[in-house]
Amino acid sequence: MDLAGQRMLVTGGTGFIGSFVVERLLEEGADVVVFDATPQPANLGELVRRVKIVEGDVRDVDAVARAVEGAAGVFHMAVLPLGPTIAEPRLGLEVNVVGTYNVLEAAQKAGVRKVVFSSASSVYGDTDDTMDESHPLGARTMYGASKIAGEYLLRAFADRDGLDYVTLRYMNVYGPRQAGGLVMSVLRRILAGEAPVIAGDGSQSFDFVHVADVADANVRAMASDVSGVELNVGSGTEVSVAEIVRRLIVLTGSDVEPQFDHSQRVLMRRRVGSSERARELLGWSASRDLESGLSDVVASVRG
Ligand SMILES: NC(=O)c1ccc[n+]([C@@H]2O[C@H](COP(=O)([O-])OP(=O)(O)OC[C@H]3O[C@@H](n4cnc5c(N)ncnc54)[C@H](O)[C@@H]3O)[C@@H](O)[C@H]2O)c1
Repeated sequence: MDLAGQRMLVTGGTGFIGSFVVERLLEEGADVVVFDATPQPANLGELVRRVKIVEGDVRDVDAVARAVEGAAGVFHMAVLPLGPTIAEPRLGLEVNVVGTYNVLEAAQKAGVRKVVFSSASSVYGDTDDTMDESHPLGARTMYGASKIAGEYLLRAFADRDGLDYVTLRYMNVYGPRQAGGLVMSVLRRILAGEAPVIAGDGSQSFDFVHVADVADANVRAMASDVSGVELNVGSGTEVSVAEIVRRLIVLTGSDVEPQFDHSQRVLMRRRVGSSERARELLGWSASRDLESGLSDVVASVRG
């Protein structure tokens, strides 16, 4: 689909990743509507004037239906994140599962041509394997369970009603405007002159992907003819937590020494994915290397 002139709805579109997707959609000439329960217009900067922001909750069936009207495509990104789903699992069910159902039902009824769904590597659960999309879904968290449910609801709508979709399973996303996450929380400590505290020996490793690359994957997924697939979105580069901390210390010119807390339980040893399928089907691969990506984050925080 040529996105120019097409109405695109982005749920959670003023959040961290959503705001980058909105930016990319405007570059493509799309007519962008954001649906967000707690809009953060500052994340869109000057672009806010070119976007219609609808304040609304994905749990509100009528509000979702009104927002979806006239949209050719929907990026469903609104979420109750991992942390809050641990504290409030029922709210996680209502926002991430029922809310997703509401968005998909409204999209189907309104004749939306395609949905791009933000899923997460959390669907795979804990595994030391390098995951491709055929890896078993082994999630044991409420968040992971809610993402699996969302993925399967989308499949069911596609099967029943022919709704086109692409599900994107992001690895560890980092970048400017992120509220939490490892990179931002470590960076804030370093800039405050406080020693970052690393759980265990810091050898636990992840696949860090820059938010601008994730936004690009979203736009490609919508624009392409590819449908009915789940795709990992990661850089494929495995980096340890200790290495991230070391690089941030060097980039900021700080002299803080990281502290290793061996009493802290390491919750995950390794989470790395293969994004080969996204490369084959969407021609997408991460273009930002870690060094320039981290410099970007440092610059954004320093202003
Ligand atoms: N950040 C990551 O590393 C990461 C990794 C994997 C998957 N994801 C997925 O990507 C998507 C975007 O994540 P993010 O990091 O930008 O999160 P975020 O918290 O920055 O943004 C989520 C947005 O959703 C909105 N929202 C929350 N509840 C809502 C509701 N009930 N109704 C309408 N809007 C609501 C929030 O106001 C916020 O603007 C999510 O679906 C998330 O699960 C993120």
